[in-house]
Amino acid sequence: MKLSYITGMSFDLVLFGGTGDLAWRKLMPALFQAFRHGTLPKDGRIVGVARDDLTDDAYRALIHERFDQVDLAKRPTPGEFERFAQHLHFLRMDLSKPQDFQRLAQWLGPRNADVVVMYLAVGPSLFTVACEQLAAAGLNRPNTRLVLEKPLGHDLASNRSINETVRRAFSERQIFRIDHYLGKPSVQNLFALRFGNALFEPLWRRDTISHIEITIAEDFGVEKRGTFYDTTGALRDMVQNHALQLLCALAMEPPINAHADAIRDEKLKVLRSLKRWTPADLAQHAVRGQYGAGVANGEQVPAYRDEPGVDPASRTETFVALRAEIANWRWAGVPFYIRTGKRLAARDAHIVVNFRPAPHAIFNSPPGTVNRLVIELQPRDGLQLHLLAQGQENRRATQNLAPVHLDLDFEHRFGSERVGAYERLLLDVIDGRLNLFVRSDEQEEAWRWVEPVLEHWQAEESNGPRPYAAGTWGPSAASAMIARDGHSWSEEL
Ligand code: BG6
Repeated sequence: MKLSYITGMSFDLVLFGGTGDLAWRKLMPALFQAFRHGTLPKDGRIVGVARDDLTDDAYRALIHERFDQVDLAKRPTPGEFERFAQHLHFLRMDLSKPQDFQRLAQWLGPRNADVVVMYLAVGPSLFTVACEQLAAAGLNRPNTRLVLEKPLGHDLASNRSINETVRRAFSERQIFRIDHYLGKPSVQNLFALRFGNALFEPLWRRDTISHIEITIAEDFGVEKRGTFYDTTGALRDMVQNHALQLLCALAMEPPINAHADAIRDEKLKVLRSLKRWTPADLAQHAVRGQYGAGVANGEQVPAYRDEPGVDPASRTETFVALRAEIANWRWAGVPFYIRTGKRLAARDAHIVVNFRPAPHAIFNSPPGTVNRLVIELQPRDGLQLHLLAQGQENRRATQNLAPVHLDLDFEHRFGSERVGAYERLLLDVIDGRLNLFVRSDEQEEAWRWVEPVLEHWQAEESNGPRPYAAGTWGPSAASAMIARDGHSWSEEL
């Protein structure tokens, strides 16, 4: 996937939700990094749109203030901010008012930029009205690209209805559905590992792989998003999108080329091959949990139900563990264990590919040691290959093997100034590159797979999510789930 950002072009990026959390935390810092790295086309305007009453200068001042919250190395110097700020503008808009879209059209009009990006960083309830109004104001021209942030719906039906409305105004190739996990350098490297190297391909199948773990653990709680999260839960927030996209990247067949649809066709096949849930599977292979009070990073932290915005009797899950199977020739019978949660013992996202043991043992190896490939997604971005080797105990011949691992730290190898997920994705939108964005049929298929779990949990009146103490690895039922297959999570080894 060769990168060649077109720096000579002009663009206008309209950021709906311009004073929202995502704009402050992710989008503005990412746009600034692109500016600093010289990849943001110079002839570009970024216009924040919201209901607030702000002048351009007041908006710039607010953004400047928010940069105090980003890592020191990623903050602009006063000179850098002054130059970056020249790209920034603000427009007051009420999405329910057609005349406000006319004003936006006038604002954009005379310049006629090469690319116009409409970034909807607003709640999904506003997607429909925004798209209808954009179309009514003639703002869905062929050079317009629409970016949709998750969540795209609450279930399959709402997802479909959003996609249908959006497609009435924009064609599929104009729609960029963000899953920021696909923009992470570690996920790019997963594609590179699988499809840029011939080494693993012959091993990447049921004959050699026993099981795969996907863990996305967070040590923080719901922070200020209690109200949103309480109606969402971990399955919708993390599994339907991020975890299933990781599963696709792991399990898909090699695409015929690196074009967006070739990649997305293969991901879609994986989602379609996910084994459907039976009542027995739902009872045994879908665990939900909710954090109680505990200690995280040395500090006493409250229970989920005591977080601001959360219903004190909430049954929303903050932890999910699932056992998935892919019913095709490559993967039949290989469990994929997915686990994600808030307020867990560490912020740690990784994938462990566990290989089968040697078929015939002529050496002694410590129990439970097999070859493993660990793909570290965050906080470290790296690869570890776990092997067994012969040490030199007592300088005598020995049959005993010891575990060793080869370690590749990408940040160390390529430098810490790597392109962040949002920076990469925003540039891809401006550049019209759809590879790392999710097609509507992928999204719908992912909803189709998670929906029976949601329905099962809703129907289970007596059992709510299992409690776990903040700062632990989730409810013990998650360990029991994987132990039934004779395995354990990597940190329990
Ligand atoms: C978001 C979820 O999509 O991803 C958040 O809504 C979650 O709840 C976040 O914390 C995780 O992203 P990252 O990049 O920090 O792992």
